[in-house]
Amino acid sequence: MSPTKPTVLVTGGAGYIGSHAVLALQQAGYGVIVLDNLVYGHRELVEDVLKVELVVGDTNDRALLDQLFASREIAAVMHFAAYAYVGESVTDPAKYYENNVVGTLRLLEAMVAANIKKFVFSSTCATYGVPKTVPIPEDHPQDPINPYGATKLMVERILADFDVAYGLKSVCFRYFNAAGADSEGRLGEDHQPETHLIPLVLLTALGKRDSISVFGTDYPTEDGTCIRDYIHVTDLASAHVLGLDYLMQDNPSEKFNLGNGSGFSVKQIIDAAREVTGREIKVVECDRRAGDPPALIGSSGKAKEILGWKPQHADIHQIIRDAWNWHQRRHLV
Ligand SMILES: NC(=O)c1ccc[n+]([C@@H]2O[C@H](COP(=O)([O-])OP(=O)(O)OC[C@H]3O[C@@H](n4cnc5c(N)ncnc54)[C@H](O)[C@@H]3O)[C@@H](O)[C@H]2O)c1
Repeated sequence: MSPTKPTVLVTGGAGYIGSHAVLALQQAGYGVIVLDNLVYGHRELVEDVLKVELVVGDTNDRALLDQLFASREIAAVMHFAAYAYVGESVTDPAKYYENNVVGTLRLLEAMVAANIKKFVFSSTCATYGVPKTVPIPEDHPQDPINPYGATKLMVERILADFDVAYGLKSVCFRYFNAAGADSEGRLGEDHQPETHLIPLVLLTALGKRDSISVFGTDYPTEDGTCIRDYIHVTDLASAHVLGLDYLMQDNPSEKFNLGNGSGFSVKQIIDAAREVTGREIKVVECDRRAGDPPALIGSSGKAKEILGWKPQHADIHQIIRDAWNWHQRRHLV
């Protein structure tokens, strides 16, 4: 299918969310080039499944970026490339500030130099820190409690300043918990190491792990476990296309939450996974982890109102079923 719309550079397009966004961009008619250093990405998803040009390189490589922007007609950048392990960001913050902040600054500087002024950014609900109100609206105070969240907030601030100074327009999407997989099984989540609840539960169902640890059963929630907002990765991807369309129509910079607007507890996710997989999933109850708020739920009304975004895969059983199909294939069960 040849593109009918301009070409977008997708950084981190060999990763989980980025690869789903590449698929959605292709389906919407955009041309795509992926830039990924493959530290965590999967070459075969880009080259064999998506069949898109892959530039193996780093957002910190200014010479590479200059060469790329000079040699190709790139209208916008969608920026997924980052490190995203919260725990590691606490023990090795330098790695996170270097990659997520300095790497993004290099990219933005190269964009301004090449007169590319449209940018879609993967931010996170971790920029809010411990919420004062739930569901969390976009104008909730941002007070991250770990370096990972701080790096994303710093980029949001850089973007606000780049808009004023250089006219670079951006859409920041603050995701809640990305989950699920392409429903046709082409793409899915394969983080190494994995820290997200749904894949960990499914890897337990597959027998790749002995048990799933539940951190804290005495939270002030109905069943005592933490509540999170899970958003299907395909719905995240469709929001990115709408965000890009919005920028291509010369609209002002904006920030949007992307979540389902409803939450599920850890126990509810495990029960739903037992129903979907038909397998036993052994649970080990552990103490609370520091810094885990009882409930994180996003209000996503703004993306619906301004972008016309309509999540199509909100049902938690469908999210888990799509992830399960992917994991079964990936692990050849
Ligand atoms: N997964 C979630 O639930 C979630 C939630 C909120 C925000 N986010 C954000 O979404 C983005 C994508 O997350 P994901 O889960 O797909 O992660 P991922 O690790 O699967 O994808 C990130 C990709 O970026 C690449 N990369 C990292 N640093 C790079 C650099 N300097 N130059 C080039 N490539 C680089 C990696 O190789 C990887 O392919 C990240 O920015 C993350 O912070 C994710």
